[in-house]
Amino acid sequence: MLGMAGVATGARVLDVAAGAGDQTLDIAARVGPRGSVLATDLSPAILEFARANAERAGHRNVRTQVADGERLGVDEAGFDAAVCRLGLMFFPDPLQGLREMHRALKPGGGICTMVFSTPQANPCVATLMATALQHAGLPLQDPYRPGGLLSLGKPGLIDGLFRAAGFRDVATTKMSAPFRLASARAYLDFVRASASPIQQILAGLEPAGREAAWTAMAERLGAFDTAAGWEGPNELLLTAARR
Ligand SMILES: C[S@@+](CC[C@H](N)C(=O)[O-])C[C@H]1O[C@@H](n2cnc3c(N)ncnc32)[C@H](O)[C@@H]1O
Repeated sequence: MLGMAGVATGARVLDVAAGAGDQTLDIAARVGPRGSVLATDLSPAILEFARANAERAGHRNVRTQVADGERLGVDEAGFDAAVCRLGLMFFPDPLQGLREMHRALKPGGGICTMVFSTPQANPCVATLMATALQHAGLPLQDPYRPGGLLSLGKPGLIDGLFRAAGFRDVATTKMSAPFRLASARAYLDFVRASASPIQQILAGLEPAGREAAWTAMAERLGAFDTAAGWEGPNELLLTAARR
């Protein structure tokens, strides 16, 4: 992803929806002390993890800034590269998010985003959503609705948004990134520990109702048990382009 965005030694890089900063640390190491990375996220709490993680790793070239990806509040043309890993699909208006990243990049600057692909290629995400909605007594949702986990997976959609935002040389690559864990339960532990929309859907249920939903998810995800553990299919779209 960093290579596709053109993240190189000495570059100034914008990391949008950086979360706890896992990729921020990779960027900081890759650009080196002459480069820098600005990690932005909507959540001040998660961004504090990113700051602390960067400090602990000894990176002095990392700054953080709380910002909605649709209103970054950064200088125009101030960055050589931008990345957004598993964040853009959550934006209510992803085109506006891409326009902001376009504005922040220097002419010729590179971008790479990562989002989930189709519900068919991401049966674990689709199963979690369908089971959570069923247990919460809510109707099934259009998987491609704006702001949903799979909202940018519709074939061709993200390329069109990049072009509409003004990017050129737009190219999307599919990447298989299966979850390999000891069991379906271990995958669900990971989902439960993250700020996932599944938690929001189940938030209105009593504790017993919530547990019943997680148990049903574990049973359905057991379909991906293997002799060596559990392997949940997962497909991502990496979209690279240039301002
Ligand atoms: C799945 S996490 C990904 C974090 C990180 N990029 C990673 O890959 O580990 C999604 C992140 O998007 C952030 N986010 C969601 N909507 C956002 C928005 N409109 N503007 C900025 N960040 C947003 C969340 O706060 C969360 O940290």
